[in-house]
Amino acid sequence: MSRQPTKEDKFSFGLWTVGWPAADPFGLPTRPVLDPWEYATRLAELGAYAITFHDNDVFDFDADAATRSARVGELVRACEAAGLVIEMVTTNTFTHPIFKDGGLTSNDRGVRRFGLRKILQAVDLAAEVGATTFVMWGGREGAEYDGSKDLYGAFERYKEGLDTVAAYIKEQGHDLRIGLEPKPNEPRGDILLPTVGHALAMIAELEHGDIVGLNPETGHEQMANLNYTHAIAQALWSDKLFHIDLNGQRGLKYDQDLVFGHGDLLSAFFTVDLLENGFPGNPDAPRYTGPRHFDYKPSRTEHLAGVWESAKACMGTYLMLADKAAAFRADSRVAEAMAYAGVGELASPTLAAGESVTDFLAADEPFDLDAAAERDYGFVRLNQLALEHLVG
Ligand code: GCO
Ligand code: MN
Ligand code: MN
Repeated sequence: MSRQPTKEDKFSFGLWTVGWPAADPFGLPTRPVLDPWEYATRLAELGAYAITFHDNDVFDFDADAATRSARVGELVRACEAAGLVIEMVTTNTFTHPIFKDGGLTSNDRGVRRFGLRKILQAVDLAAEVGATTFVMWGGREGAEYDGSKDLYGAFERYKEGLDTVAAYIKEQGHDLRIGLEPKPNEPRGDILLPTVGHALAMIAELEHGDIVGLNPETGHEQMANLNYTHAIAQALWSDKLFHIDLNGQRGLKYDQDLVFGHGDLLSAFFTVDLLENGFPGNPDAPRYTGPRHFDYKPSRTEHLAGVWESAKACMGTYLMLADKAAAFRADSRVAEAMAYAGVGELASPTLAAGESVTDFLAADEPFDLDAAAERDYGFVRLNQLALEHLVG
């Protein structure tokens, strides 16, 4: 049994997660669609502290201004009544057929101008509802065929689009930061900015990159056979971990969006350990303090009861892993195994303070090659202790 989630746990859900009626490319929806405020109210009852949404999770693509503001107003009122924060807003630039070749990087300049306007309108909406993160997931920014796109132009247009949005946020004085969400493929054959590393490299080229960071998703890194914990660690190290999308994925296949922990459980344990306890050898390193946001899909086999069970499962799994990670860090056997492994030694700079490369090269320091070659690190024992805590 897991603890009951409370607002202090900072759990957040996209409205499109519990709100997914479970249509897939092979089958019709298996669940009814509720109004967005109904999902919000129910999530609050389950212990969530916040929700997030795409513009078109709340109003239709072609809604007129009056309908938009009425529906947004209704959602905001429901959130206030339930004590829910709206922490992040994002734009849908993937459902409508015009976005088939992307929103910011479509070959069609007219589509790009339309897409950019839609994104800027969503930025204002985000500020209006009090969100502090604006996620940009470019699911349609990509290609199936390498000859179909001038990739240089695509990167230029992506940069132009991101800088325009970031500059607009600053100009308007909105308290918002952009979280780029990488994904390797799906719906495009290959998506631009496929991994956290690619997104960090793009941010480094931006004029307004200071307010642009990452929203890494567990399954997206794992779809590329990469390590999610390493990805968020590098984003933290770069001071760019602005938001997270937690879910589960089992190996290299379509984006499964399983409940958090229902994919690679040991990896989920170390993800939570990092989020909750920070880097073991660098207590002063940046820490993630933002929402624990879930971006998953209740499986198509579940009806509404199963939807709420799966939302509870995301939070419950996180809390169980947080308790286990705390016990892992507090265990004296773990402290001893970490010391034996040299985990803390990595915090010491390789060169001494003030040591020049010339001095370094000239230093005639004793080093026992044989002893270093024979050193035992005990990493397996350390990992087994983690496993003991995890399943124990
Ligand atoms: C996906 C993505 C999306 C985004 C969402 C927010 O694989 O479909 O994870 O769910 O997170 O569009 O921008
Ligand atoms: Mn996803
Ligand atoms: Mn996501």
